[in-house]
Amino acid sequence: MSVGGSLGKIAGSPNTPLERPMLRLLSLLPLLTLGACSLLPPTMPPPVQRDPHSYADPTQFSTEHLALDLRVDFGKRVLEGVAELRLQRHDVAAQTLVLDTRDLDIVSVEAGRGGRYAKTAWRLAPRDPILGSALAISMPANTDRVRVRYTTRPDASGLQWLTPAQTADKKHPFLYSQSQAIHARSWIPLQDTPAVRFTYEARVRTPKSLLAVMSAENDTKAQHNGEYRFRMPQRIPSYLMAIAVGDLEFRAIGPRTGVYAERSVVRAAAKEFEDTERMMERSEAIYGPYRWGRYDILILPPSFPYGGMENPRLTFASPTVIAGDKSLVSLVAHELAHSWSGNLVTNAVWDDFWLNEGFTNHLTFRIMEEIYGADRAAQERALGANDLKDTLAKIRVPGDRTLSPRLAGRDPDDNVGDVPYERGALFLAYLESKFGRAEFDAFLRKWFDSRAFQSARTADFVAFLDAELLSKRPGVVSAAKVREWIYSPQMPADTVWPVSDAFDRVDAQREGWLKGHISTAQLDTKTWSTRQWQYFFDKLPTGLSQEQLIDLDDRFNLTRSRNPVLASRWYRAALANDYSPVYPVIDGYLRRIGRMLLIRPIYQELARTEDGRAFARDIFAETRAGYHPIAQDAIAKILDLPATASP
Ligand code: BES
Ligand code: ZN
Repeated sequence: MSVGGSLGKIAGSPNTPLERPMLRLLSLLPLLTLGACSLLPPTMPPPVQRDPHSYADPTQFSTEHLALDLRVDFGKRVLEGVAELRLQRHDVAAQTLVLDTRDLDIVSVEAGRGGRYAKTAWRLAPRDPILGSALAISMPANTDRVRVRYTTRPDASGLQWLTPAQTADKKHPFLYSQSQAIHARSWIPLQDTPAVRFTYEARVRTPKSLLAVMSAENDTKAQHNGEYRFRMPQRIPSYLMAIAVGDLEFRAIGPRTGVYAERSVVRAAAKEFEDTERMMERSEAIYGPYRWGRYDILILPPSFPYGGMENPRLTFASPTVIAGDKSLVSLVAHELAHSWSGNLVTNAVWDDFWLNEGFTNHLTFRIMEEIYGADRAAQERALGANDLKDTLAKIRVPGDRTLSPRLAGRDPDDNVGDVPYERGALFLAYLESKFGRAEFDAFLRKWFDSRAFQSARTADFVAFLDAELLSKRPGVVSAAKVREWIYSPQMPADTVWPVSDAFDRVDAQREGWLKGHISTAQLDTKTWSTRQWQYFFDKLPTGLSQEQLIDLDDRFNLTRSRNPVLASRWYRAALANDYSPVYPVIDGYLRRIGRMLLIRPIYQELARTEDGRAFARDIFAETRAGYHPIAQDAIAKILDLPATASP
């Protein structure tokens, strides 16, 4: 237990007098995070709303710069090193700096000013299952720096340590991080809130043959010598801290773009993503200059739990996006778009997640339309809207159907669903339809420019929208309508639901086939895109006969599909219809792939029946250790198994 361990250390620490005020402070922390303001006397001004997912108090100290010195130990599966934080002291009277940690072993803590450091008292609070442990550090007068020596744990929630067998080339181990939403604290002690931004530098030591990369300036020609240095000159929030270490090669795509991947993957990746430079140019033309220098893409091993993660300068991507035909490159458009929506202007708390993802989804559709045309963009939009309709029907907490959920006391990862992404994008599409594309593009550009390198709340956006569009063009959209979009659990009646001719043709084929007017052999699918197929599967009803399923499968070889997204959607539809020939292939799929969007629906469908659940539990028992910690917990929940035991 971290509690016992830290108490042991405190006992031996020199500054015991500080223990009491610290204890008092720490006992207050849970109250603060639960919004204890109603307990305060009415004369006190309401406190600035704190991020309920961080123990840090940025009104006392805020991080300006982080210097990391890490050694990557694949044998022990730990990072070991030092994090030095340079702080801005906003409150001269502040005596305690509180950092976020989760499962870190703290070795020593020093506080200082300028280059001079001295040991200082510290205390690690008991571990909260969602938030981790507050690390309270005594800050003598005038100090504005701390240096924390620490090691991570092998099961750090934000890191995945892979054996050679779990990589593409099977020869070397691999490590990667996933910090969003609140996992940076499991590998760095810091103020883990998107309301705080800082620059960083790092030195990373690895086994000699491996390459380390970070969400920072990477030297694309780095010698693989086991020591790497990074510099991130733009201020970023903690959830964009990222590192990966593996047997990686680099291949340029264009002057500012390239891919990092294992040797056997790098060529296919460069080909798949060859349009990236053009995507950047189109995005810049609409939303203003790309402010991060290079844009590279790192292809991770297949256990990566997301499709992509917008780590600045270096998007992390699942290899499941490399379909061979660019059919899934909207993911690159999406992660690239985050360079404006999210990385440049950041949700200040996770309740405002739609400011990141809804905006990014809107930008994705815009970029896809610019590069691949209106028809393809319409398909992407329609799929998203479709998913949203299904999701809304299933959500029980009304607030979770809105763009302003209350996530205090909950894990922000649980809000990663269609509502912030799709409802958010539909809201912006609605505004675009009312004000016109040119005007709305310019409006968004101004939002990014005026808030660049800052964090924003939903209320900031509402005020900006009012000042820059609503009141300049009165009578077009009312303030009440904006409130409805953001705060009402119902979708507004005048939502502009996207339509796609290509999908209408799929509907016609599917309907004809279901009614028996069109035989399986007659289904006209020759020109169908991946997204049309996806739509075909998504709208397959339950209650199909085994014959119908066998026919479909035989004719189109569906169970053997090599497109990971199509495979997942087909498996789901097949399982919903109790079509058992997919079982053996699903077995392999679930062992190979850890991307949650793809495997979660399969596990959910399996969990529906007793046989399916037993089958799924057997697979999970064996594959669990191969999944990322975040995915492990998500799947355990679906299968009604306990979450990963905490240390
Ligand atoms: N930032 C997200 C991934 C994320 C969100 C990680 C919340 C952890 C917490 C990323 O930009 C994203 O949205 N990825 C999507 C792909 C996208 C095309 C919808 C994904 O991984 O599925
Ligand atoms: Zn995103």
